[in-house]
Amino acid sequence: MPLHASSGPLLRESVAQPPSPARSTGNAGYVYLIATVAALGGLLFGFDTAIINGALVFLKKDFGLTDTETELAASSILFGAVAGAAVAGGLTDRYGRRRLLFGAALLFTLSAVAAALPRTLTEFVVARLAGGLAIGLASLLVPLYIAEIAPARIRGLLVTLNQLAIVTGILLAYVASYYLAGQGVASWRWMFASAAVPSLLFMVTLLLVPESPRWLLGQGREAEAIGTLTRLNGPVAAATETAEIQTALAAERGAEANLYQPRLRQPLRIAVVLAVLQQITGINTILYYGSIIFTEHSGQSAASAIGANALIGGINFAGTIVALFVIDRVGRKPLLLLASGGMTLALGALVVALHLGAPGPWLLGLIMLYVACFAVGLGPGVWVVITEIFPNAVRGRGASVATVALWIACTVVSFTFLSLVKAAGLAGAFGLYAGLSALTFLFVWRAVPETKGRTLEEIERGWHS
Ligand code: GLC
Repeated sequence: MPLHASSGPLLRESVAQPPSPARSTGNAGYVYLIATVAALGGLLFGFDTAIINGALVFLKKDFGLTDTETELAASSILFGAVAGAAVAGGLTDRYGRRRLLFGAALLFTLSAVAAALPRTLTEFVVARLAGGLAIGLASLLVPLYIAEIAPARIRGLLVTLNQLAIVTGILLAYVASYYLAGQGVASWRWMFASAAVPSLLFMVTLLLVPESPRWLLGQGREAEAIGTLTRLNGPVAAATETAEIQTALAAERGAEANLYQPRLRQPLRIAVVLAVLQQITGINTILYYGSIIFTEHSGQSAASAIGANALIGGINFAGTIVALFVIDRVGRKPLLLLASGGMTLALGALVVALHLGAPGPWLLGLIMLYVACFAVGLGPGVWVVITEIFPNAVRGRGASVATVALWIACTVVSFTFLSLVKAAGLAGAFGLYAGLSALTFLFVWRAVPETKGRTLEEIERGWHS
């Protein structure tokens, strides 16, 4: 339904007037505070996925695990994440963003304690499955919630804050494993236990954040929604946005809230394909198996492999900071193109360098270039697009389908990497990821629309026409 056909008086009034200064005088501090609290979920997502790297060696020794049991211990979290992302969408469209975020925080806390105390492998796997569920929930809900409370002009920045938190969580896990390794064979217990502190902080600070106004309006809870929008963006912008969101919701009601209707095929395809491409271009092989790559394939010592991991974590962090500042100015699409193009070139050069037997520092430099390109574009950009591309009424479910696809792709890549390297060599594996990066470039170029600066409802209207 075109916007002007059903705009309420509030909207018509504000459209007729020149932009009021009040439109931009919301409470920016409050917006950043909420986004930061929510991003603690991203920090835990990063920490919990990465802590296993340091812990695994000790766990294996302590429990006397076979290789298959070790794989099970390492991967249980990924299965949990797939399940968590799968149930999160339907549940959050029904019960709201805030309650589910709280559920994730509770699961993060319980799993941190449970993963630190198990007596058997089974108990450990159950604890990690619960942690995985929390990761699946958080990976979907945090960017979704942030996208829904964010003013359009800084939405990219705020969702990227979550990616920055994920990367910080990964770095903290490296640091924690480094320092806790000295605790002897039981040090893995301390590594998992240390996640309890940020988990509790997440749970308590969530009490401060409001429910998403877009979800509230979908439930007919207008007064609460207007209250929150006013606190976020000031009274004039709140009135405009309320009218705009309601118009969009009315249009969706007319068209029924079915994610699989033909009109939504395009956003669904874009979100799912981007999610899969973000993973199958190989980023987590570096982040999960960095130590193995550096010690076994470029002949470095374990100590310098830790140093290399730290450098990679650092460049991932620095690249995300750059994205934070430019994603709302340059836009999503140019960053995604720059990232996938740069990743293709860096990986292509890496393949050549491997064939020529280039020395370790060259390989590390090219890997760092690849990670830097990922960090400025594909890392944050994909989460931003997934959470802003769907209409209000089906956003949870749509983003959930894409997030499930992302976690399945992540699981497949992590499971196949070592065998791929055995079969085709490191050059073969990275050659494959180079090809897939080139494919990502083409897909973004042809299929992904620019969404910077547009409200979620303006993006939604694009699918109507
Ligand atoms: C993105 C990816 C995640 C990866 C992270 C690394 O968030 O979704 O799988 O570990 O970036 O920066």
